[in-house]
Amino acid sequence: MNPSLIYHVTSSLDGYIARPDGRLDWFDSLRQADEEYSFQYFYSGIDALLMGRVTYEALLQRGGPWPYPGKPCVVLTRLALPRATDEIQLTHCTPAQAVAALNEAGFQRIWLVGGSLLAGNCYTAGLIDEVVINLVPHLLGAGVPLLATGMERSLTLSDQRRFNSGTLQLHYQVQKQAGASAPIPAPRISAA
Ligand SMILES: NC(=O)c1ccc[n+]([C@@H]2O[C@H](COP(=O)([O-])OP(=O)(O)OC[C@H]3O[C@@H](n4cnc5c(N)ncnc54)[C@H](OP(=O)(O)O)[C@@H]3O)[C@@H](O)[C@H]2O)c1
Repeated sequence: MNPSLIYHVTSSLDGYIARPDGRLDWFDSLRQADEEYSFQYFYSGIDALLMGRVTYEALLQRGGPWPYPGKPCVVLTRLALPRATDEIQLTHCTPAQAVAALNEAGFQRIWLVGGSLLAGNCYTAGLIDEVVINLVPHLLGAGVPLLATGMERSLTLSDQRRFNSGTLQLHYQVQKQAGASAPIPAPRISAA
């Protein structure tokens, strides 16, 4: 299996992944059983998670048990934050180094959870292989964009499905450009 970094994310129709203040109420409580089942299927097929610090803190603030158990989760940050579980590793390195380290530790399919800043930097660094968007039939008007930084790139639609809520899931393969990602020495990332 080839290593893959997969940006699996929920977006409003106008391209926002959160309200300007970070709230996710416009989709979070509305997820129905078919969408939950699809997410669990996706989750069972990934080996590890990569997320930005703001997303991690938002998850911590929700309280309750860590929502993504059983998989190592690398959080990129310069801060010393509490770890919700032993599976969380707080690291200060580039996304390319984090992905390389995970691959080296045997984790091949990595879920890029987000958010926008980290996904944008991963995208412009040529690291994202697949994009899975759950497109919610809702216009937010403003918010945190799907990718904070961008560039033009063609994607290939590889799958699509419609959930009972009216949310569309679109699965794209990102067309890599030659020489986009040179190997970078990786820091050590443990298997949690
Ligand atoms: N709809 C969805 O499916 C979905 C998914 C994920 C997130 N979200 C939402 O998106 C929002 C957070 O997104 P965000 O863009 O504000 O923040 P983010 O991408 O989650 O986190 C950005 C932070 O990560 C750290 N970081 C370390 N290395 C980085 C690098 N190379 N590139 C970028 N960041 C790096 C920095 O924190 P330090 O200063 O600590 O180094 C940076 O400020 C939240 O509201 C969250 O709930 C929604």
